[in-house]
Amino acid sequence: IIAAFQPKSLAGRRILITAGPTFEPIDPVRGITNLSSGKMGYAVARAAREAGAEVLLVSGPTALETPFGVQRVNVQSAQQMHDAVMDALGGQHVFVSVAAVADWRVANPSTQKVKKSADGSVPQLQFEQNPDILAAVAARTSLAGYPYCVGFAAESENLLEYGAAKRERKGIPLLVGNIGHQTFGQDDNTIILFDENGHTILPRADKLTLARQLVSEISKRIEKNSL
Ligand code: CTP
Ligand code: CA
Repeated sequence: IIAAFQPKSLAGRRILITAGPTFEPIDPVRGITNLSSGKMGYAVARAAREAGAEVLLVSGPTALETPFGVQRVNVQSAQQMHDAVMDALGGQHVFVSVAAVADWRVANPSTQKVKKSADGSVPQLQFEQNPDILAAVAARTSLAGYPYCVGFAAESENLLEYGAAKRERKGIPLLVGNIGHQTFGQDDNTIILFDENGHTILPRADKLTLARQLVSEISKRIEKNSL
């Protein structure tokens, strides 16, 4: 009831969010993925919807329910996620790249299940690099600053240094940093926001609380940018 009377900070805004892991096939029954649960991306989608935005969630494989009022497109591979994002990009005010996108895919996935060999020899997998979805979206940012791009970085060390450097390298206004093994699959997290003025630490909290804080930070910043 109270929420209904609160001003909606993203009313009239369209926001595109990626979430979850990607799955890169080796053959029709096997593949390579990562430990992302999708919880943070789904929490951002829910928080953005609560804030009045029209939300499109492009999701890798997860075990999560679609948040109320959120439109969801399911994908598996990074290439599919890239294509779904590029298709939906027109008219988006914000892009939040929460997905743990595989950096590499298997170059020649087998069309049939790979059989175990009798002599103990093992398959030789070759890899190639996936497209960088966030970089591709950032490269399309309009002069007015849309879509406003927010990246996530899971590091295992030197978060302050790597986070700031990654924001610059990706050419994005806002990057959210966290420590990979302290977030994947967990219900709460500690995050650090990196922007052009430096960094701000958001203390440990559940992911929905952090997502609401992040959404509020994003809406403040796009208000400043103004359409
Ligand atoms: N990202 C993406 N597409 C990729 C790889 C990453 O969109 N192919 C996005 C992620 O969703 C995240 C941000 O880029 O928002 C940073 O991802 P991260 O893996 O931390 O950065 P990389 O540039 O891939 O660098 P590295 O893994 O070597 O640290
Ligand atoms: Ca990566």
